[in-house]
Amino acid sequence: MIVAQSVPELKSEIARLRTAGKRIAFVPTMGNLHAGHRHLLEQARRHADAVVASIYVNPLQFGPQEDFSSYPHTPEQDRTLLADAKVEVLFLPDDAAIYPRGREASTRVEVPGVSDILCGATRPGHFRGVATVVHRLFQLVTPDVALFGKKDYQQLLVIRLMTADFGLPVEIVGVDTVRDADGLAKSSRNGYLTPEERRIAPGLYAGLLMLAGKIQSVSGHDFAVHETQAAGQLEIAGFRPDYVSVRRQQDLAIPGSDDRRLVILAAAWLGRARLIDNLELDRKTAPGLSSE
Ligand code: PAJ
Repeated sequence: MIVAQSVPELKSEIARLRTAGKRIAFVPTMGNLHAGHRHLLEQARRHADAVVASIYVNPLQFGPQEDFSSYPHTPEQDRTLLADAKVEVLFLPDDAAIYPRGREASTRVEVPGVSDILCGATRPGHFRGVATVVHRLFQLVTPDVALFGKKDYQQLLVIRLMTADFGLPVEIVGVDTVRDADGLAKSSRNGYLTPEERRIAPGLYAGLLMLAGKIQSVSGHDFAVHETQAAGQLEIAGFRPDYVSVRRQQDLAIPGSDDRRLVILAAAWLGRARLIDNLELDRKTAPGLSSE
């Protein structure tokens, strides 16, 4: 595995791969890699001849009160996982490589609308930070295909829209969420959980499964009562829910009567960890006029 710590080093490795006629897949990360990231890397291999990964904890996507300064760094473990996954190039940019004129002065990329709802409503500027860094990384890595986890469902949509709006020649692939045996989605932030919180944490996914069952069994397309009920159950379990919301898969808008392809999204605090999860569902029942 080649480790590129600067833009010139990265460029020369990309040029070498291109000269060899390789199709390049890209997996951007913030490090503290786990089985979810490993799965992304395995899928990347299936889509291309060479895999480039990056580790960069992007300050622009963290709010002032968020965990940027305490975000877990595990560089040795990460390198072992990436080398085991036979990644060809690991890009480790510094702030100057990503924001050459400084983080504050650099041009931002904004996908309005979808960036302002759900997680965007409680994390203002978060998706602007994500779109900005991913755009910059795409420009540097010039991948043919880039892979992102469905675990961060809203992020995946923001990146799909950004890529389409700019006409970037990158195929975006969404990858299924990897979970622990008890259902908890793998996340770098799970490390913030105390043993007691870790026992409670699978309740988030359990809540999504229960709500999905309910949606399949009711008519209508107004799920507000059921969303509120699900949030209430999370609260009883010990979470501080931020939202539980049923949306359309394609644009995260509120579903209408014709919508079948839905996704339930939830975010909830558990101690100092803000956990997110989601569940796609294809609605089988024909929605009627009322929600009960
Ligand atoms: P990070 O949280 O490190 O995640 C990197 C990639 O791994 C993202 O595409 C994320 O959706 C995916 N991922 C995380 N947990 C997963 C799981 N349990 N199963 C499957 N995939 C999972 O997301 C980011 O970093 C950043 O916002 C980034 C895109 C790198 C921009 O800074």
